[in-house]
Amino acid sequence: MSDPSPPTALTEVVAEQKKKQKQIERSPFEDDCVTFTAEVGRSKTDTILFLKRNRVVITHEISRPSPSNDGGIDVYLECISSRRIENVIARMSDLKGVSRVKHSRIPVLEGSHLEQVPWFPRCMEDLDESNGNVIMCGQELEADHPGFKDVEYRKRRNVFTETAMNYKCGDEIGLVEYTQEEKQTWKRVYDELTRLYPTHACQEQIRNLQLLAENCAGFDGSDVPQLRDVSKFLKSRTGFTMRPVAGFLTPRDFLAGLAFKVFNCTQYVRHSSDPFYTPEPDICHELLGHVPMLADPSFAEFSHELGLASLGASDADIKRLASCYLFTVEFGLCKEGGEERAYGAGLLSCVSELKHALTSPHKLDVFVPGVAAETDSFVTCFQPKYFVSETIEEVKLQMRQYASSIPRPFDLEYDDVTNTIRIKHRDEAKMDTSQDYCVLSRTPAL
Ligand SMILES: [Fe+2]
Repeated sequence: MSDPSPPTALTEVVAEQKKKQKQIERSPFEDDCVTFTAEVGRSKTDTILFLKRNRVVITHEISRPSPSNDGGIDVYLECISSRRIENVIARMSDLKGVSRVKHSRIPVLEGSHLEQVPWFPRCMEDLDESNGNVIMCGQELEADHPGFKDVEYRKRRNVFTETAMNYKCGDEIGLVEYTQEEKQTWKRVYDELTRLYPTHACQEQIRNLQLLAENCAGFDGSDVPQLRDVSKFLKSRTGFTMRPVAGFLTPRDFLAGLAFKVFNCTQYVRHSSDPFYTPEPDICHELLGHVPMLADPSFAEFSHELGLASLGASDADIKRLASCYLFTVEFGLCKEGGEERAYGAGLLSCVSELKHALTSPHKLDVFVPGVAAETDSFVTCFQPKYFVSETIEEVKLQMRQYASSIPRPFDLEYDDVTNTIRIKHRDEAKMDTSQDYCVLSRTPAL
């Protein structure tokens, strides 16, 4: 069972995925405009279905009787496409009853200052481009990882990596048949953590875990819950959905997912030799740490806003935002009845660090976004410090204020119906941090 040489198959899978990843040629500041004339009957509906099947997201539609075609309909569409739309447009004229197809690009915003803005996804389908942007995954287990020398474990991890790499937006999440060993690890982690929660976890965690136990099989510890079930439940409760991922995504890619209410989620189980600590996310971390908090409407909104704040932000601002994310969503503490309680997923899913954080008063500091943004964090050992807030609501308001100070020469908002990001001229939006929903507004121009 000891072979420290890494299997190569998955390295190839990752390399292949990266090769397939194409830089989307569309600028985030341009939409597509498609017009055509459809004959009576199903031509218009069929054409719209054809576009949707080809990953063209229609954000606006106007139809009117065509003055130049008896009984025909002129159709005007505004769209966002995650692939080269020209190839799709070229095939439209072959559709039955469709004529006068035209395509143009509509600038949403213009100005040379926009050239400095890093590319960001405009529709949920764009998230497929980040599949290969994993920093660490199954094939790259590091030497101090508990599973490093376990060939069987590494093989198992490769299966999960491959599944995640091939996942596409809109796919149904596949059901996983977990092994007896994996189920036992989940049960050990579940039992020990739920024993600690009454004295270590915030009320939101306890309340929503109960709700999950009532709605998703396995949340009583009996089996590893299926991501597909969890995703459906979260969608109905807070609008969030889960997306399988091979491991750590880059901070920019991970935060971008949150902007679309998509949580990138690992499906593998940590190594059985060390169930109470894992140096990387695994399904125990996701299901016990993140999912109950994402089932809380206010916390889900907080996560969504962090994602929106990241779109188009500079590398330096992404680093600061990711650091704030880490010291709140992953390792945050709040107060309840004068005592510290964990709300961060990294603590809520890790027996040893949860105990450690709540018994290390010298490591606790009051949460201030500007300070957390500049604090170094660790990935493979306990954090050097933890930030405490009076309430989670206070963190949300502080981060809303912090996000509004990140310079960005445009405003944006999320369209829940089309799952797209709407870009707005800076002057069109008003900043109101007291409201429940935040319209992000950026002050200084770049
Ligand atoms: Fe996490």
